[in-house]
Amino acid sequence: MNIAIDGPAGAGKSTIAKILAKKLNILYLDTGAMYRGVAYYVLKKGIQPNDRENVETILDEITMNIKYENNLQSVWVNGEDISPFIRENSISMAASTVSKYPKVRLKLVELQREIANKSDCVLDGRDIGTFVLPNAEYKIFLTASPETRAKRRYIELIERGQEQPYSQILEEIQARDYQDIHRDFAPLKQAGDAILLDTSDLSIEEVVNSIENICKF
Ligand code: DC
Repeated sequence: MNIAIDGPAGAGKSTIAKILAKKLNILYLDTGAMYRGVAYYVLKKGIQPNDRENVETILDEITMNIKYENNLQSVWVNGEDISPFIRENSISMAASTVSKYPKVRLKLVELQREIANKSDCVLDGRDIGTFVLPNAEYKIFLTASPETRAKRRYIELIERGQEQPYSQILEEIQARDYQDIHRDFAPLKQAGDAILLDTSDLSIEEVVNSIENICKF
């Protein structure tokens, strides 16, 4: 069984996916972490994410592995666990930029399909229901207004002691949405058969309950 959860940044995908995976005792695959892994490597090599030619060239140097320990996912690039370094703000936009290139996507999609075919899992991303697993048993598209998503991120950063101006966070979210929606290959899009849930005015518990009521896993 595969559950696809797609939607824009900050809609609550990873929180909800983790809870569902735990309840159903299945894997949670965070596909965004893979694009972040490529972005991390690209930046470490001193390559600009928008330099398509060089990004595509070094892609062949990357061997990516996804590992699980106590159901926690880690991303390994060329034998190194890079999970602690990929949550930085600078990586978010770089991941969105490198994710435009079909060569990058196809490499990561192959790994995503391999994992999804082997195990029951909840996957979160942008194109799971439309491209990666068009036959997934369950498809959910989570969204929320850009303002709500920016506010959530703002509070999260304050809690981590990394406060940033709200207006800057909102701008970054809108820029990333634009780029993820407007790329040519496998853009962020609701699958025709996905259930749409706007989480703007819902608590985490309400979102989980709604999904369970609709899907009846
Ligand atoms: O989910 P996230 O914020 O960690 O994703 C980072 C970027 O990776 C996102 O802006 C676009 C890209 N991405 C993608 O194109 N397709 C996916 N399935 C997951 C993420």
